[in-house]
Amino acid sequence: MKYTSISHIEKLKANGEKFSCLTAYDATFAGVMSEVGIDMILVGDSLGNVIQGQKTTVPVTLEQMEYHIDCVSRGNQNCLIAGDMPYMSYSTPEEAYDTARRIMQAGAQMVKLEGGAWLLDTIQGLTVRGIPVCAHLGLTPQSVDALGGFKVQGRDQDTAEILLDDAKKLEAAGARMLVLECVPSELAKKVAEELVIPVMGIGAGVDVDGQVLVLHDMLGISPFQAKFVRNFMADANGDIKAAIELYHQEVKAKNFPAPQHSFD
Ligand code: KIV
Repeated sequence: MKYTSISHIEKLKANGEKFSCLTAYDATFAGVMSEVGIDMILVGDSLGNVIQGQKTTVPVTLEQMEYHIDCVSRGNQNCLIAGDMPYMSYSTPEEAYDTARRIMQAGAQMVKLEGGAWLLDTIQGLTVRGIPVCAHLGLTPQSVDALGGFKVQGRDQDTAEILLDDAKKLEAAGARMLVLECVPSELAKKVAEELVIPVMGIGAGVDVDGQVLVLHDMLGISPFQAKFVRNFMADANGDIKAAIELYHQEVKAKNFPAPQHSFD
């Protein structure tokens, strides 16, 4: 089995090539994504929504994350696996080290956490301990109650400046990747241009370095279809593997996301 690390994604950014990522929660889909050549799998806490039927990601536990990361890692062949650190499992650096140990030992090669400048010490601590960290800014679903709902972030000048500043600080603290969720395309483009680390978008326009979607959304089987989602299953005549392959090709060709999947 080929071992894939974050360096693979870093090389793609350096060469100006886009990278593809999808969420997965089980071995079978991880196997299909490997066959198709998806660059990265995120075992997201979105499993709360699409596997458990919860309204938010808040109820997801660390034990549940470990279980799904373990399943994905057994089906995976050659995708980089990132695992979400769940709600309130990284409130202090010490708690974050223990959570990250469990996520990595379950089979991830990178941990993802949500938030801005308050996480700098935690990211620095994880980085010196040899754990690659993916940060997550914009719409951070674990804070949906504080944000007042699932809304586009960084639309005015003040919040856009804070987001860009946070992104630079997260990179300086050691983050190796950044997810931008539901931010205006122009702001996302600026962040991707100003950071050296790969920036992966979901609802962040085409001018970032890679794209991620929740598997069930792009297969068109989630109850709600957000503006930034394209139904690849419909475009692939109902064939699951062909839908995942089409997504990969459309991301690489910069055809997805199109303007209708992006925010101003
Ligand atoms: O949990 C998840 O699937 C995520 C993506 C939406 C980025 O965090």
